[in-house]
Amino acid sequence: MNTHEIQFHGKRTWEAGNLSRVPYWVYTDEDIYRKELERFFYSGHWLYVALEAELPAFGDFKQAMIGERSVIVIRTEDGSVNVLENVCAHKGAAFCREQSGNRKELTCPYHQWNYDLQGQLTGVPFRRGLKQDGQVNGGMPADFNPADHGLRRLQVAVRHGVIFASFDPEVPPLEEYLGADILAYYDRVFNGRKLKVHGYSRQRIPSNWKLVQENLKDPYHAGLLHTWFITFGLYRGDQKSRTVLDAHGRHGVMESRRNLNAANEDLKKVGSFKEGMKLHDERILDIVKEDWWGEPTTSIVTVFPNLVIQQQSNSVTTRSVVPRGPHAFDFTFTHFGFEDDAPEMTRRRLRQANLFGPAGYVWADDGEVLEFCQQGYRQAPGRRTITEQNGKDFGPSDHTITEGLIRSMYSYWRKVMEI
Ligand code: FES
Ligand SMILES: [Fe+2]
Repeated sequence: MNTHEIQFHGKRTWEAGNLSRVPYWVYTDEDIYRKELERFFYSGHWLYVALEAELPAFGDFKQAMIGERSVIVIRTEDGSVNVLENVCAHKGAAFCREQSGNRKELTCPYHQWNYDLQGQLTGVPFRRGLKQDGQVNGGMPADFNPADHGLRRLQVAVRHGVIFASFDPEVPPLEEYLGADILAYYDRVFNGRKLKVHGYSRQRIPSNWKLVQENLKDPYHAGLLHTWFITFGLYRGDQKSRTVLDAHGRHGVMESRRNLNAANEDLKKVGSFKEGMKLHDERILDIVKEDWWGEPTTSIVTVFPNLVIQQQSNSVTTRSVVPRGPHAFDFTFTHFGFEDDAPEMTRRRLRQANLFGPAGYVWADDGEVLEFCQQGYRQAPGRRTITEQNGKDFGPSDHTITEGLIRSMYSYWRKVMEI
């Protein structure tokens, strides 16, 4: 009997077709986690790595993580972007240690092997040995060919300023990967305007990485957990909403539409909703509708497995997921705006960014409950969730009282994991 069987008392099963009762071992098992890295992060999928605005000039780079693998996202001389695995061909050193910077070539410090920005090996010290006292000492064997030993180069897709990479040479085109319905929401935020990065928030959340995908596919909780939203009128369970998904069930959108005029009236009556709770600075609620929004006032797009594109009022962010074992993940918010934003709009976006981030008025709640869930999964590994709000099947809906997107994700997850 192996340790898993002991831990799960022989109950490590999941009946075919059941999407609404997720066994807790899905979130805690080390073997499941390793298999997820292989099947979702290292093959068959596109992973978000950067915004183009983070590397505007030749040589600008950013280090990113795809699952547990470090990669270097770098702007080359011709303006294109390369993504190279951060593993030296010589002895495997993950040589790039900076989070970002500018390099016109890449050099590993250990034995100074040198690469160009295409990842080609361009220099090997003492390749032909060292001349000493009239003789040549050392040198690489005659059949050593630098052309065979470059850095591993990933597939890259760039769409409207957002950079994705994949270790899988067979990955489908990004547009096909997203599917038309998700692409429409993607293009709503990234419609070709130049982006401007305003800053980052980063946190490590002690929960399984899938819980963040679930949380952002879960409109059911938003009007219940987030008292800030309710108190200050930014979100209510009865506002016009819908959820959308791709054909595989892996990506999703939660969209909501507030009647901004009515909402602004609500905001003036704030005190009555939760007596005594007031903002010191009410400018955070200074929401101005932007033409590009169209009907929705908020949309949260989850691109499986590692990206969330969030537009909540005037705050726009990408959020990316780096799993750190089954029990933790790193979450990075990249707060951005658009190059043609007026200075007041930039200030407004930054003020509203206080809703999110590790200590955000809203997101602090989510970070905490994700941790609570993981604690329960570890404590009672033989049990299951009851993800049955609005039924047991998967699919989109035109209201918020649903867990349909989560069930959709597990229908995809089970297929790929063959579980
Ligand atoms: S490990 Fe990189 S040069 Fe030796
Ligand atoms: Fe939330």
